[in-house]
Amino acid sequence: MTAKIIDITRDFHAAIAEACTVLGDGFPIAIPTETVYGLAADATNPAAITRIYETKGRPRFNPLICHMADIAMAERYAVLDPISRKLAEAFWPGPLTLILPLKADSGIHELATAGLDTVGIRLPKGFASDLIRAFDRPLAAPSANTSGKVSPTSAEHVAEDLGEKLRLILDGGSAPVGVESTIIRVEEDGRVRLLRPGGVAAEDIEAVLGIPVIRPEGPAAIIEAPGMLASHYAPTAAVRLEATHVEPGEALIRFGLGRIEGQEHATAIFDLSPASDLAEAAANLFDYLKQADKVGADRIAVTAIPQTGLGEAINDRLARAAAPRE
Ligand code: TXA
Ligand code: MG
Repeated sequence: MTAKIIDITRDFHAAIAEACTVLGDGFPIAIPTETVYGLAADATNPAAITRIYETKGRPRFNPLICHMADIAMAERYAVLDPISRKLAEAFWPGPLTLILPLKADSGIHELATAGLDTVGIRLPKGFASDLIRAFDRPLAAPSANTSGKVSPTSAEHVAEDLGEKLRLILDGGSAPVGVESTIIRVEEDGRVRLLRPGGVAAEDIEAVLGIPVIRPEGPAAIIEAPGMLASHYAPTAAVRLEATHVEPGEALIRFGLGRIEGQEHATAIFDLSPASDLAEAAANLFDYLKQADKVGADRIAVTAIPQTGLGEAINDRLARAAAPRE
């Protein structure tokens, strides 16, 4: 099988119609979202969800995010506490996932939530939202990549990785945010925990709530406890962080201007953002990691990225890409 690819900007109606047919038959499809491409299936259909896990080679104890069209739809499946509601109103639709208590008999299948009593919910922007509204059911969708690999930010990325395993890939061009959603859980005592930095900067969440967000153990802690971390978001080449020079055989991914020692040795040079714009850097990150693999670099040297704004998400993904491999 080779996936059919439909360009959603040229054939919007065909894309929605064919997507609804394949989803209704219980098969996953690749869809563009503003963060990364998702591997979407009917969150109420156990056979469809099973096919997501099989296609990605993903462990079934790792739950999936369920995507909704609007807050009213989210409330059919989950309970929003006042703080979560405030975040939903500020950042939905957009790159924010809220972990919320699941309503009993909501219809979301327990395979999607890995049997937890909570569900991760996100309202995506744009085409994905139109599709959910047309399909009229929540879509469970992890990133559309083989488990452990770098997430796809274009239809080409999806086709290269999963094209032989899928019936349909919807092409919406480059994902504008480029890193996955920020995942937040509001605890019963009102503390707000950041489970994964992502496309909404933690500072922006703090500005809306007026309270600090509790961060996960940062990249430094990750490296101190390598046993805790299976390598993730990993290109084939090794990754070396906070590089101030380039060694022979390395590709260079750089941020901002400024000369890097030994740049002439680089197999290839990728500029995340010459203007030091973290949003631009996030949008380019996964594509450049994949391109660095394609030029056959043994190792990818990456210069330091500021740990502010979207830099938190970028540094999280880079730390995982550089983590010891199994
Ligand atoms: O931007 C995104 O979030 C993309 C697009 C497609 O929406 N999706 C995505 O999904 O990144 P995935 O499956 O690659 O990552 C989902 C993360 C996993 O780390 C999972 O453990 C966590 O969300 N998660 C899902 N449900 C959860 C729950 N009930 N409690 C805690 N974590 C949960
Ligand atoms: Mg993923």
